[in-house]
Amino acid sequence: MNATARAATILAGMTLDEKLAVISGIDNMYTKGVPRLGVRRIRMADASMGLRDEEIDATAFPAFIGLAATWNRERALAYGEAVGEEFRAADIDVVLGPGVNLYRVHECGRNFEYLGEDPVLAATLVVPYIRGVQSRGVAATVKHFVANNTDWHRCVSNSVVDERTLRELYFLPFEAAVKDGDVRCLMTSYNLLGGAYAGENRWLLTDVLLGDWEFDGLVMSDWMGLWNAAPAIASGLHLEMPTADAFEPAVVRTMIEEGVVSESDIDARVARILELTARLEEVQLEVPNPRRAKSEEHAGVALEVAREGIVLLKNADRLLPLDASDGSIGVVGPLGDPTPTSGGGAAAVRAIDPVSIAGGIFAVAPDRTLLRVEDGRDEERVLADADVAVVCVGYTGEREREGCDRPWELPSGDVELIKRASRTARRTIVVVVAGGGVEMTSWVDDVDAILHLWYPGEIGARALAEILFGEVNPSGKLPVSIERVHGDRSSVANYLPEGAELYDKPDFVSQDAAPYDITYAEGVFAGYRHLDALEIEPLFAFGHGLSYTRFSYAELSIDERGDRLTVMFRVTNDGERDGMETAQVYARPPESLADSVPRRLVGFAKQAVGAGESVACAVDVPVRALAGWDTDAGEWRLQGGSWTLEVGASSRDVRLVGRIELGARRISVKENVL
Ligand code: BGC
Repeated sequence: MNATARAATILAGMTLDEKLAVISGIDNMYTKGVPRLGVRRIRMADASMGLRDEEIDATAFPAFIGLAATWNRERALAYGEAVGEEFRAADIDVVLGPGVNLYRVHECGRNFEYLGEDPVLAATLVVPYIRGVQSRGVAATVKHFVANNTDWHRCVSNSVVDERTLRELYFLPFEAAVKDGDVRCLMTSYNLLGGAYAGENRWLLTDVLLGDWEFDGLVMSDWMGLWNAAPAIASGLHLEMPTADAFEPAVVRTMIEEGVVSESDIDARVARILELTARLEEVQLEVPNPRRAKSEEHAGVALEVAREGIVLLKNADRLLPLDASDGSIGVVGPLGDPTPTSGGGAAAVRAIDPVSIAGGIFAVAPDRTLLRVEDGRDEERVLADADVAVVCVGYTGEREREGCDRPWELPSGDVELIKRASRTARRTIVVVVAGGGVEMTSWVDDVDAILHLWYPGEIGARALAEILFGEVNPSGKLPVSIERVHGDRSSVANYLPEGAELYDKPDFVSQDAAPYDITYAEGVFAGYRHLDALEIEPLFAFGHGLSYTRFSYAELSIDERGDRLTVMFRVTNDGERDGMETAQVYARPPESLADSVPRRLVGFAKQAVGAGESVACAVDVPVRALAGWDTDAGEWRLQGGSWTLEVGASSRDVRLVGRIELGARRISVKENVL
């Protein structure tokens, strides 16, 4: 008997009381189960950067935004497999992740838990991650559905977003998780969408998710994120977590008696919970519990993600990689030792023995003279004595975390320290630790090199040292744009209510603040799409990241077969070091398409290319990636005409340009995304 049939049999034997009980969770991280009928509880735990449970030792992986910066599906798969295995070994059935809310403003306190500003990049990486997790006999939960792009008073914010923007941007990674990733669970968000809480939004859950995308998994609320019983039941949501609040059995029973809700509505919810339980039992028979997670192997996975996700933003006069002639190295700044492994909140994994930036440098280059404040010098002395200053600045999990947003500017004192270092030390390298972009314009010209470390997990600071000394050639590329001027980002005009200020103590689920609208007035012109439309030069463009070698591109050809394009070209490594290049394919619509973004990412390929070698690349692009949402018709539509495809090393470093004539067509809402 398959899981659906088993669930149906059990459901038929349940009393109404039992049904009303199981549609909400218990003990913070469990479903209730039906003990009388032998249905067990399902255990859940968070995982934004690895398994988070205060009682369990787990691998602290680099932040998800760092995974996005790898642009590497294989890294995403391995990351997912390792997380899945740690869950399975700990007997935890459901991973409360991945998070795929797009990066809309730099301030969002949870950007580090997500996959950057581009929907195709996020969708492409989230699918292998989910497959990796689920291959280990546990279920993944894509979250937070949807338009939860800030954490400032998140339970009273109402995201006002037109349908086209939702479908083309904010829905897309969720849609891919459902259709291409076969994700088993989905979590709704805290905010309202168009006036209705996400968990109480019938259009969102019943029409789009369960209807258009035919999601056959479990929809759960965010923790204490349901408020009103009737719309919550009517929305299509299945499970209230972590406890009965809106789904208080007595309240729901009265609603049934009054005819507001029918018992079959409740049955539909119970069935999904039973199905998930039965499916987990099925796959867990096939995937035995390893009992112990392979922590060394997983640290290796974490290290690989960091090696490929750290982004070298600037490298003046090829200062990096450092060699013996560069002299002594002084590590200064608040984040040099210890270095934060993670942002805060549901993401914070208890890292056992994390490597700091200073520790990583010492481990990788023990014969170099390392000057540190910890060794009795004051900061001024370190800077005066150092040939190269490594200035470690940015945020920590105390300030960058769920429940609040953080400023675009670096924490107070950081810029002053950078400036002081650049005046005193011979050379200055800045390492930024943060979940996204920060203000850099005021100091970028003062320093020689800049690296973005994101949140590195337990071992990512070692990868940083390997990059500094040339053991690893950097290959990370920005999954976000970093503007010169804060206001250059279109969405900041539609972010906080006027006059509002950021606060720094998390506000988890209170509704004390005044409700406010966030109108996504920029529509689809978000991130690099806006910068491109208005021809604004960013400080560091979406897709940018330097290498220690040089790549050239040649021989573009484009093939069309049915609803897929293949974009083929060669990448040659013209330098003396082996390296990896992420070639990015952007589409420009026919001139006639007035309201379309000028350039959008439609595919990419990351390739290892040995020194002096040349590699043939083929990027598979679904025509759907070029299509736009036609709200009136309720379908995807590809505009016919002459499309331009650009292949490049970033969104602002186009190397090859080709054209292709495409016939207009409709694409069904049931079609896959990737
Ligand atoms: C977060 C979720 C998380 C849940 C359970 C909520 O506060 O928003 O992302 O999964 O808590 O810890």
